[in-house]
Parts: sequence; structure tokens; C-alpha cells
Amino acid sequence: CGITAYRGTSAAASRARCALERLEYRGYDSAGIAARNLDGTTLHVRTLDGVASLTDAVRSDESGMDATTAAIGHTRWATHGEVNERNAHPLEDCSGRLFVVHNGIIENADVLRAGLVADGHRFATEVDTEVIVHLLEKALRPGTGLGDALADAATRLAGSWAIVALDARSGTLAATAHGSPLIFAEGEEGVYFASDVGAVTPVVETFRVLEDDDIVEVDAEGMRWHRPGGSCRPRGLWPVPQTAFLASTGRHRDHMGNEIDEQPAVARRVLDVFTPGIADGRLWGGAGLPPLDEIDRVTILGCGTSLHAGRAVAGVFSRLGGLPTRTLVASEAAHEVWEPRTLVIALSQSGETADVLRALDGLPERDRTLLALTNNPSSTLARRADAVLDCLAGPEIGVAATKTFIAQVLTGACLALSGLSASARADGLAIDGDLRALAATPDALAAALDAWRGRAAELATEFVTSPGFLFLGRGSGLVYAAEGALKLKELSYRWTEHQPAGELKHGPLALVDAGTPVFVVDNGDPRLEVDVAEIHARGGRVLRVGERVLTVGGLPLHLPRTGPSWGPLETVVPLQMFARELALRLRRDVDKPRNLAKSVTVA
Ligand code: G6P
Repeated sequence: CGITAYRGTSAAASRARCALERLEYRGYDSAGIAARNLDGTTLHVRTLDGVASLTDAVRSDESGMDATTAAIGHTRWATHGEVNERNAHPLEDCSGRLFVVHNGIIENADVLRAGLVADGHRFATEVDTEVIVHLLEKALRPGTGLGDALADAATRLAGSWAIVALDARSGTLAATAHGSPLIFAEGEEGVYFASDVGAVTPVVETFRVLEDDDIVEVDAEGMRWHRPGGSCRPRGLWPVPQTAFLASTGRHRDHMGNEIDEQPAVARRVLDVFTPGIADGRLWGGAGLPPLDEIDRVTILGCGTSLHAGRAVAGVFSRLGGLPTRTLVASEAAHEVWEPRTLVIALSQSGETADVLRALDGLPERDRTLLALTNNPSSTLARRADAVLDCLAGPEIGVAATKTFIAQVLTGACLALSGLSASARADGLAIDGDLRALAATPDALAAALDAWRGRAAELATEFVTSPGFLFLGRGSGLVYAAEGALKLKELSYRWTEHQPAGELKHGPLALVDAGTPVFVVDNGDPRLEVDVAEIHARGGRVLRVGERVLTVGGLPLHLPRTGPSWGPLETVVPLQMFARELALRLRRDVDKPRNLAKSVTVA
């Protein structure tokens, strides 16, 4: 979910709505705004049709002007309660005075609800957030400020939350957070709250991040920060990242198309910044990491596409350095026993994924190092880590990650190579090969884009009715097969399966029939030829990506080769392009796949 709020001189609802539009990738099941008009009346609109459809509603007075001075907004990714207008935020109390937006999950909502109902409160929705409204209503006695009432209500909650409440009578805003991100920023004509800085990048230069249980109250007299124990100073200022301004759809009608195209430029940016620090180990040391000789093992974790990027990076540590390296699905890591002298690398483009943050809750304070590899250096993950590497991808709006994947793999590979360069763990020759491969990556990505632009579209037309797709790879190619399968299911809602190619004969081959599309990610492993032959023999349609072919006597000869230790990164480009082209033909919204959200802040 995404939250925005504004209090200032004018047009509060329009400003909250504009900010909300920039957060829609966090969820788009429903959206809503509540605001206080200058004359004391209230505006409250909710919709299932997206944030843009709120535009007219927020300019609804007779002159067509927006005369609101305080507003809160929300764009929802449903957890509790079905997707309908009644369950959309902002939720209001029964007197129409208090409005609440919430991101997170209230884990004890059922218990609280039962108690409140017994006290005579009447509930209007199924959403967990409604208990906050009632608790706030109860706590807001005469003489109690909204901030204190919110603090009181929050002491009853278990789970995670970022909350902004609006008192429509006074126009006061109060906000708090616990395990969910919330930022505060001052613009020229007023102040904002938002789930992430992307919401307000055009209108502010700096922002502050609420720490867990901070309460911030804003009214006519200004802003006040406090915590359960008393008042506190406003948190430190972060500059708005420069790359935050780069979001555009370019020549495409969707962000994803542009983000796929941007990948060679993103790779160049990452390599320009990080490769100078590889050979002398400066990147590793400069990030504040202990020498590799003081690390016994590496554990890499993440979710979704970031997990796949982590698997590719793990290949560099284990193949070149011989370091025991594991990758963990973050949501499965809750009971992990953390060994001493472990380097933990958490990958998350948003830095806010709750599954990743919860996985780290059990990490001991000492004798381990946590590195955050993220596209958001002010995120919760980055603030918790001992060292942070910004993967420099710039804002990614498409919910299905593309350029952040490329950026994470390359940043992680540079880091690992830098650590290995400074230690005796890798042999020089192997690193030299990887350094050359790194330098060639932007061109390889650009070549893949050029080669597949027409072909991806043609194949999408050919396979538009195919009910399912297989993705195969071996060794270092496997993560790209997995990422291709993930992209295709996210975007097209078609069934996909990825498998190590050698496993084909142990079951998945039963799925192959005449014309079944099977993508094969070619990392140069000669055994793939046997796998391909087995598919051909059953009439399957083999679609190879990443192959090196020599034509001999008019016949294609697939050449074996060894690739870099992170695998054939450029093979993901055609797979992304195919997924997008197929989804467009199926009339899917490629930037906003159904049921998904870019930043999943609930575990
Ligand atoms: C969600 C998104 C995925 C993303 C995953 C991890 O599930 O839909 O595209 O890969 O979260 O996100 P993160 O921000 O941690 O990289």
C-alpha cells in the first residue's frame, strides 16, 4: 500500500493525490482521499478505478478550485477484506471527524475488534485498519491531542503499521510507524507524509524517515515529534536522490518497456562507478566490509527478482572464491541459525520488503556483517545494515523488476570481485575473465535488445494462446531461466515452470507436447544439446536464448563456452521482452500486474 498526506496553505487534496499517483506501484486495488476544506467541510472519495480517477473529485467546489488545507491519501494492496469501495482507505469514524490511512498488518485485529464491539463500537468494514479508527476515536477525549491519541491507540496494536490520521475538524495530521516505512518532508508551502520519497521528489529537496514508534503531529502551530517516552528531535535529513527524477515511459506507452530499454545505460552507470574499485579491493574495503579471510561463509537473501539476482551474485563467491555461499528465500529464513563470521547480503530493490526485514530480525548483533544491496539507500534495510551498496538503477515504476535486476547482479558481482581481488581466495586468471565480461556487459545487453525487438514480438504473437511455458537452464544459466519464468507469469498470468535442464527427464518432460514452448537459457554447457534433443523428440518448440552459433555447411553448430561466474546475464533481456510482448497481446497492464505490488511491506 502507499500512503500520502499533506498539510499546507491550499490544494491539499490535489497535492496528496499527485503524490499518491507516484506511489501507485505499491498497490492499486483501490485508492482514496480524505481532506478538510477551508470552510470546515470534508471531502472523502474512494474508487476502484485508480488514483487518476480521483482528479475531478478533488477539485469539486463550485469554482473548480481545490480549497482543502489538509488531506490524506491511500492506494491499497488488499490483505484483509475484499477489494471494494467500502474497504478502501481512508476509513472514517462514525462521526465523520477522524480519517485514517494505514499500511501494514494489525495482527491482533480480531482480538481488538471483539473488545471494541463489546464496548459498543460498530464496525463497517472487514479490514484490520478499522480497529485503529475505533481505538483512535476512543483515545481522542477532550483535551487530548491527535498525536497523543494516536500514540495511545498504537500501544494496543501488534504487527506492522504506518498510519496517518486526519482530524477533519481542525485539519490536524498525526502519523506514526512501526515496521512499515513512512517519511516526512517539508515543501515550500506545506508538509508531506509518504510511504516513500518517490511520492514527493518533484516538490521537496530533503526528507526525514520516521523511526519505529515516532509520533509526528502537524497542526496550525507547526510540527511536533515525540515518542512513547516523551518528546524527541526531528530525525535527520536525507537528500532526495538525484536518480529519483528519471522515471519516464520514454518512447513506450508503459514504464516497463522503457525500463527494459534503459538496461545498457544502467549497466554502464553501475560499472563506471564500481569497476574502478575492483582490482585494488577498494570497493569492498570502502563499503566497510571485513577482509574475506575473516569471513567463513556468505549468506545471501531476498525475495522474487532480488532473490534471483542474489543467486547470480552467489555464483561469484562460490565459483571463484570457493566460499561456502548459500541463498535463502527471505520468507523461509525466520528460524535460521546464524553462524559466526557470516557475511549476510540482503538484496531488496525497495529495501522495504517485510519478508527480508523479518528474516533479519534474528540476526545476532555481533560477529556477523550485514550488507544491504538496494536501490533505496534511505530504506529501512539500508538503515539497519552495517554496509550499504546503492545499485544505482534509478526509479523503477513497473511492478515487475527489470533494470533493478541487472543493476543488482552487476553491483553484487563488482563487490564480490573486489573482495576476491583483495584476498588470496580467487586465482587471478579467473578474475581477469570476469573483469573482461563485466566491461562487455553494456554492449551485450544492447545487442540482446536489438536482436530480440522484432523476434520477441513475433514469438509473442505465435504463442499468444499457449497455456504454459517451460524455462530450462543449467548451472549459471538457471537463475536466468527462473527469472524469465517469473517475469512471464507476473505479466501474462500464464503458467510457467523453470527447471534445471537435467531434471527434465525426471518429470517435467511429461508436460512437453507438440508445440509446447520451452525456453532454454544457454550458458554454453554442452549437456544442453542433449536436453534440447529430448524436447525436439517430443515435438516441443525450443526457444534458445544466449546461444553462440557457428554455421557449418549450412547447419547451426552450438558452441560450448565458459561464461562469467554470474552467468549469461544478457539472456534475461529477451525473456523480459517476450513476457512484456505476450502480456500486451493479452491486454494486460504490464506496469501493474494483477494481485501484485512492487514493495510488499507485509510479511
Ligand atoms: C514483490 C515484487 C517483485 C519483487 C519482490 C522483492 O513481490 O512484486 O517484483 O521482486 O517484491 O522486492 P524487493 O523490493 O525486495 O526487491
